[in-house]
Amino acid sequence: MTKALTAFTCTACGAAHKKWAGRCDACGAWNTVIEEAPLSQGPGRGLGAAKGRTVPLSGLATDEPPPPRSRSGMAELDRVLGGGLVPGSAVLVGGDPGIGKSTLLLQGAAAFARKGLNAVYLSGEEASAQVRMRAQRLGLADAPVRLGAETNLRDILTTLDGERPDLAVIDSVQTLWSDTVEAAPGSVAQVRAAAHELVTFAKRRGVAVIIVGHVTKEGQIAGPRVVEHMVDTVLYFEGERGHQFRILRSVKNRFGPADEIGVFEMTGAGLAEVANPSALFLSERGQPVPGSAVFAGIEGTRPVLTEIQALVAPSTLASPRRTVVGLDSGRVSTILAVLEARCAIPFAGLDVFLNVAGGMRVSEPAADLAIAGALLSAREDSALPPEAVLFGEISLSGALRPVAQAENRLKEARKLGFSQAILPEGQKVEGSSGKKDGMDTRRVADLTGFVGD
Ligand code: TYD
Ligand code: MG
Repeated sequence: MTKALTAFTCTACGAAHKKWAGRCDACGAWNTVIEEAPLSQGPGRGLGAAKGRTVPLSGLATDEPPPPRSRSGMAELDRVLGGGLVPGSAVLVGGDPGIGKSTLLLQGAAAFARKGLNAVYLSGEEASAQVRMRAQRLGLADAPVRLGAETNLRDILTTLDGERPDLAVIDSVQTLWSDTVEAAPGSVAQVRAAAHELVTFAKRRGVAVIIVGHVTKEGQIAGPRVVEHMVDTVLYFEGERGHQFRILRSVKNRFGPADEIGVFEMTGAGLAEVANPSALFLSERGQPVPGSAVFAGIEGTRPVLTEIQALVAPSTLASPRRTVVGLDSGRVSTILAVLEARCAIPFAGLDVFLNVAGGMRVSEPAADLAIAGALLSAREDSALPPEAVLFGEISLSGALRPVAQAENRLKEARKLGFSQAILPEGQKVEGSSGKKDGMDTRRVADLTGFVGD
């Protein structure tokens, strides 16, 4: 007898449930459990046919050298991919609707095609004529990319099998449907089946497949998280609506460092690469103002300077506002608590607004000192020295902890004309000794010492 294993799945975490529930036990999310057609279990249970073989690890290197990565020539894209596209890899590009995923991938496909790759762009959202119009607007009308408009998974696999491309872009996974799955396109079951088929195809045929996925309001790729587990690389394309900057961030990469970012600017003629993001994020700085602190951060392998802005104002609310954009609000609460408890600086009765300029998102704990600096400067209404950058992690005791890659942070700051760095006392800086290279370093042991002067 075949028995259904799962009938209900949580769209947020992918957990399986025997019956429907309003709240998922596994992740605690509400209204995310939906019914799914169970995976059919054919007669072939138990051991498979004698296909499973192993090969010696040492034998691999000599038998088959890894195929070289392909570079698109778009430096920002290549870096986020970990140095280029790996043949046979599956890449998921997620992002809000309208953020520019189709634009990015059309430009990417064209760039790869111009480097000699056989690239196919399959859109389930737009007709080929619309894609062509978009390509014209982007100045890519002559790029040797092949277009298709298909949503049936089997047709897509047949097309790809016939064309034998090196790269296939599938825009988007939510539009695909497989006739073997009884569910609407965009449902968990369909998304998962489509992603699975495409990933399997990529591996078997050595075709690099880039799958576009829309993200829901909650910030998850619509459908189950399992798509993220299936692919080799997960990239998010993010940015604030009002800003023209877009950031492509790798959150998972089997073939390169995660947390790498590529910075783009959305222009009338598509996405332009931003080679020097620090200059861009700081470009709006004018006169020194209270509440502004420059954080010397590291994004992936690259140093990026960003401006952290704070505003502290008397509140009329019983529980004052804590509005945080671009930073982790839990981290900010911790820093406020440390300032109150260890340094006797109360924020009760005060609204606090924190923001990272330019629509950038900063998640490093190394930003703690810059956040504290911005908060204190805003609260005291006195500007920090405009020539200074800050970095350092704050512990619950108020002590400052050293962070990674101090040299790179300082080098970037020096390059952009900063002459002072405020950093943890215990911070080792390799290959430089403070003043020698035109950088004045001010060491701080703990937050009380920083507040004191
Ligand atoms: P799109 O790539 O269609 O977004 P997604 O695929 O993520 O849904 O981008 C849509 C937005 O980008 C749209 O609001 C218009 C803007 N855009 C430009 O500003 N310049 C351009 O050259 C193009 C093609 C789009
Ligand atoms: Mg699109």
